[in-house]
Amino acid sequence: MRVPGDKSISHRAMIFGLLAVGETRISGLLEGEDVLRTAEAARQLGARVVRDGDGRWTVHGVGVGGLRQPAGVLDFGNAGTGSRLMMGVCGSHPIAATFDGDASLRKRPMRRILDPLLKMGVTVVSQMEGGRVPLTLQGPDECVPIIYETPVASAQVKSAVLLAGLNAPGLTTVIEREATRDHTERMLRHFGAEVTVEPHGVHGRKITLVGQPELKPAPIVVPADPSSAAFPMVAALITPGSDIILESVMMNPLRTGLIATLREMGGSITVEDVGNEGGEEVATLRVRHSALRGVTVPPERAPSMIDEYPILAVAASFATGTTRMRGLHELRVKESDRLAAVAAGLSAAGVDAAIEGDDLVVAGGAGAVRGGGMVETHLDHRIAMSFLIMGMASAEPMSVDDSDTIATSFPTFLAMMNGLGASIA
Ligand code: S3P
Repeated sequence: MRVPGDKSISHRAMIFGLLAVGETRISGLLEGEDVLRTAEAARQLGARVVRDGDGRWTVHGVGVGGLRQPAGVLDFGNAGTGSRLMMGVCGSHPIAATFDGDASLRKRPMRRILDPLLKMGVTVVSQMEGGRVPLTLQGPDECVPIIYETPVASAQVKSAVLLAGLNAPGLTTVIEREATRDHTERMLRHFGAEVTVEPHGVHGRKITLVGQPELKPAPIVVPADPSSAAFPMVAALITPGSDIILESVMMNPLRTGLIATLREMGGSITVEDVGNEGGEEVATLRVRHSALRGVTVPPERAPSMIDEYPILAVAASFATGTTRMRGLHELRVKESDRLAAVAAGLSAAGVDAAIEGDDLVVAGGAGAVRGGGMVETHLDHRIAMSFLIMGMASAEPMSVDDSDTIATSFPTFLAMMNGLGASIA
C-alpha cells in the first residue's frame, strides 16, 4: 500500500504557493481536513487555489508582501501546523488576521509563536488566556528581522519565524538546540530563497534566511507520510502472519526515529527500494510480524518521531520486557495531552503503563494484550488510529469514542487498514 501524502509538506506546499508569484503545481497533496483548512486560509489571504484532480492542486500566489486583508476569521480546525505557520506568514504583513480552531486547538499554547513575533514588531490585538486562539494579530508596516533561539524543539516555531522573516529586510536567524524536521528550509531553497544551515552544538542547527526574496513557483511532489505509514507498519509487526509492502515512504532523517526504534526492538523492517520524490529520499519498506523486545528510547530522538509515540506505545505493549520512552514533555501539548491519553488508553486495554516525570514506561505482554477497552481520543487523530491498530492483535477488540478526527491526517485509514485484513467498523 501507499499511504497518503505527508501532512507537514502538504501544509507548506499551500503556504509556499500563496507566497510565490504565479502558479505552483502540487501533486500527491494530502487531502485531509487539516490541509484543506490551510488551503482555505490561503484563499482568504488572496491566493487562487484550484483542485485539478486526485491530490493535484494549483495555487496562484500573491507573492511575499502581497497578502490581502482577510474578510473573516481564519479557522484552522484541528491544525496546529497550519495555524502556527500562518501566524508567521500573516504577522509579517500589514494586515489584521484572526485565528481560531476547534476545541483541541483552542487548548494549545501559542505563546511559543507569539513571543518571537512580538520581537519582530507584530501586535497581538486580542488573545485568550495564556496566548490561546481565538487570537488576532496585526502585522507592522515593516517587520524586524531577528536572531531567535527556540526554547522548545519545535519545527512549527522555527518555521513560523522563518516564514515571518521572508517579509523582513535583512537576515533572520533561528537557532535550535535540537534539529527538527527541515521541510521549511528545503522548500525555501526550492522556491529560490537564500538559506544557510550550520551545525549548532551537538544536536542543533543555526538557520539563516535572507529576507524579501521573490519566491518563484516550483512544482511540489508530496511523498508518502511516514507518520501515517507508522500505523500499518506497527500493525504488521504485532499481527501474526503479516508481511506487507509500504511504497515510497519519505525517509527524511529528521522523520525516521520510529523506524530506528522499531528495528532496535527487533522489528523486521527492510528497505527494498530507494528513490527520490520532490527532493526527499523515499523508500519502499517491507514489514513482517516480529517478536519485539523492550528498549529505552533516548530523549534526543524525540524530535525525529514526535508524532509516533502513541503508536510506539502500542508496539511496546506487545514486546517482551519494558520500554521506556524518555523526555516526552512536548507530548502534553499536542492535539491532546498525549502522555495522559496514551497512558489511559493502555490501562483501558489492560496494559501496565506509567508516566514517570516526562517518561512513559510500558510493560510489554510478550505478544499478548487483553484489549477490550474503550479509549477516549480527546479530538486526537493519532490516539484514535493507534488504539484501533492495537485491536488488530489484542485478544478482545478495541473501541475508540470518536473516529471523525482521523480525517484530519489520514482520511483513507479505515479503508486501507481493512484492505490489509483489519476489521474496523
Ligand atoms: C510539525 C511539527 C511537529 C509535529 C506536527 C507537525 C510540522 O510539531 O508534531 O505534527 O509540520 O512542523 P512541533 O513543531 O510543535 O513539535
